[in-house]
Amino acid sequence: MTRAAAVASGCIEASPATAIAVRDLAVRFDGDAGSVTALDGVGFEVPEAGFVTMLGPSGCGKSTLLRAVADLVPISAGSINVFGRTPEQARRARDFAFVFQDATLLPWRSVIDNVRLPLEVGRRGGAVEQHAEPEELLALVGLEGRADALPHELSGGMRQRVSIARALVCRPRVLLMDEPFGALDEINRDKLNEELLRIWQETGTTIMFVTHSVPEAAFLGQKCLVLSAQPGRVREYVDISFTSPRALGMRDTLEFVQVTAHLRSLLELPR
Ligand SMILES: Nc1ncnc2c1ncn2[C@@H]1O[C@H](COP(=O)(O)OP(=O)(O)O)[C@@H](O)[C@H]1O
Ligand SMILES: [Mg+2]
Repeated sequence: MTRAAAVASGCIEASPATAIAVRDLAVRFDGDAGSVTALDGVGFEVPEAGFVTMLGPSGCGKSTLLRAVADLVPISAGSINVFGRTPEQARRARDFAFVFQDATLLPWRSVIDNVRLPLEVGRRGGAVEQHAEPEELLALVGLEGRADALPHELSGGMRQRVSIARALVCRPRVLLMDEPFGALDEINRDKLNEELLRIWQETGTTIMFVTHSVPEAAFLGQKCLVLSAQPGRVREYVDISFTSPRALGMRDTLEFVQVTAHLRSLLELPR
């Protein structure tokens, strides 16, 4: 049973541990044209098995924040803690997986072989000890029966499902998603939003999810980190809870509209 399922069934207490703790974080990039402060004084926590969305204007440091958590850019000040470890230790323990806007599948490999890829390029060519069964992951993302298809035979939404399955194959504790559905049409995005919530509940993975879509941020997140630009700072860390279950129809409710209106006001978007 996953932690999320155990909490849902009342088997364990619902006060989760902290998965990610960011304190007073600054990231500066030094180049020939001078230094850019991408993030400054950023602090927040993500609970274990939590789902946090991130909103902010282009260039405010959302991707940089995900990369700093995953130890892909050096930090200039402050600290990041991932399940009690440094980002470097967490990266070496393969705690992270990324999903980007572009599915970046290998075009000559079948769906199932794309999902298996991280197992083949695992720890210095050795076997990855903890992994999920690629076939089961295809079922989880709704692609059973498509194992032998090639990427060009799939729609954009299906390709993103493959990239989610591939991200989950090493059983990451943290899934970092950078505008993963930004290139999809609205119908596919809606479908994947609902399915991602189901996948999150079934796997108990901690998720940080960057988006430009206010409704998507409100629909998916238990919390939404709203950043302001230049340098990126936390505008507000918004708690999002709904009395109605998270199904797409909920977006027409008054409470949902109130949340999106608040997020828009923080982003200074017209309401
Ligand atoms: N590797 C880098 N070198 C120099 N500047 C960078 C680098 N990565 C990001 N930046 C700068 O940091 C700021 C934040 O970028 P980014 O995190 O990509 O923003 P967002 O994802 O919110 O659009 C931008 O000003 C960007 O130009
Ligand atoms: Mg970005």
